[in-house]
Amino acid sequence: MDVPGLVERALKELDAAEDGPALEAIRVRYLGKKGELTAILKQLGSLPAEERKAAGQSVNQAKKTLSEAISGRQKLLQQADLDRELAADRVDVTLPGRGVDAGGHHPVSLAMDRILDIFNRLGFATETGPEVEDDYHNFEALNFPPHHPARAMHDTFYLPDGRLLRTHTSPVQIRVMKNRQPPVRIVAPGRVFRSDSDQTHTPQFHQVEGLLVDTDVTFADLKGLLHDFVNAYFEAELEMRLRPSYFPFTEPSAEVDVRWQNADGSAGRWLEVLGCGMVHPAVLENCGVDSEKYTGYAFGLGVERFAMLRYQVDDLRLFFENDLNFLRQFR
Ligand code: DAH
Repeated sequence: MDVPGLVERALKELDAAEDGPALEAIRVRYLGKKGELTAILKQLGSLPAEERKAAGQSVNQAKKTLSEAISGRQKLLQQADLDRELAADRVDVTLPGRGVDAGGHHPVSLAMDRILDIFNRLGFATETGPEVEDDYHNFEALNFPPHHPARAMHDTFYLPDGRLLRTHTSPVQIRVMKNRQPPVRIVAPGRVFRSDSDQTHTPQFHQVEGLLVDTDVTFADLKGLLHDFVNAYFEAELEMRLRPSYFPFTEPSAEVDVRWQNADGSAGRWLEVLGCGMVHPAVLENCGVDSEKYTGYAFGLGVERFAMLRYQVDDLRLFFENDLNFLRQFR
């Protein structure tokens, strides 16, 4: 009955056990119902009485030693498992980050910001008006009489209640002048809508309207302003010309062309970029502005057109397709 030898053997086996099942097998082998220590315990009864007590104590001590050794080993193995898992899961903080894709402004926004910035620096305050307008502000007050053919130039979207989506930003002129006596010096950016769609037209696009009303305003002031604006926008000395035109709300009216420069710097073709004119006296009177005392000029431009020219985009529809390969070029 070599109890110390048995304990020594069991402890050696424990040291070699590498997982839970191996530990369990050792426990069963020594401490289980048919285990070696249990067997010794059962034989104690056959010992002479004077030896029985000491032998019992040594077997119990051995049981205790083994149980503790098993649970100690178990803890060690669990800790090792945990360490291994943690090591496998470790985040390598030295790896380069995935990064966040930086967004960018849409080219139409870039052009819009640029246009407004130039006019703001020239003293024009930014004003806005509603996209859903009524006939009065969009047409009537701007001197489009009912059934006037000029209304047909705007393929208007009407709402069931008779209101409409504004076809231009010119109605902001009316709203501003009705609210405020001259001097007025504003630009009005915004979305406009026309039922029209092809390579050069989209049902929704952007305009910037300009209006200046004061005493002694002349057509020469208008031409000077537009000349400065065009050159600031394109960062070039471009030839500019005014062509007589017609708008109901201006008299006289003109269209502005700039002479495009070819890549080699030579003079290219004339491109129309703006509509403008002197505010029609009837429009001033409609807004309660004394047309004997005040004169004014107005202009309107298409922002997409300016964006296309600046960024050399040849199809208007690219601006509205949200193709990232296109948009990323403007970051
Ligand atoms: N509202 C005109 C359009 O949408 C553009 C325009 C032309 C505005 C001449 C003006 C102007 O203020 O004077 O076609």
